[in-house]
Amino acid sequence: MGWQRACRLEELPVAMTRPVTVADEPLLLCRLDEQEIYAIEDCCSHDDAPLAGGTLDGRQIVCPRHGARFDVTSGAVLKMPAPVAIAVFPVRLTDDGWIEVEVAP
Ligand code: FES
Repeated sequence: MGWQRACRLEELPVAMTRPVTVADEPLLLCRLDEQEIYAIEDCCSHDDAPLAGGTLDGRQIVCPRHGARFDVTSGAVLKMPAPVAIAVFPVRLTDDGWIEVEVAP
């Protein structure tokens, strides 16, 4: 599949998240500052619930259900009850203002 358009940069304000579906993959875009954006799988490893709607706290996303925390830059678990890391996908910005995510073929 390679690089796929996710959304326009202006649709994702700084310090906010946005759920998107890219190549049938539910993802959550997390914008930490002007140029630093991450794409994580939108699924908590605790109970398979969406992370969309959770709070972005610096580099951490807080699951809205039971409060697990993940590092959005690596997917690592930072707070239980999530048992394992979540996937993180490569992100790039295009010259014409798109956020693109690289999804596996
Ligand atoms: S579903 Fe995320 S912490 Fe329980």
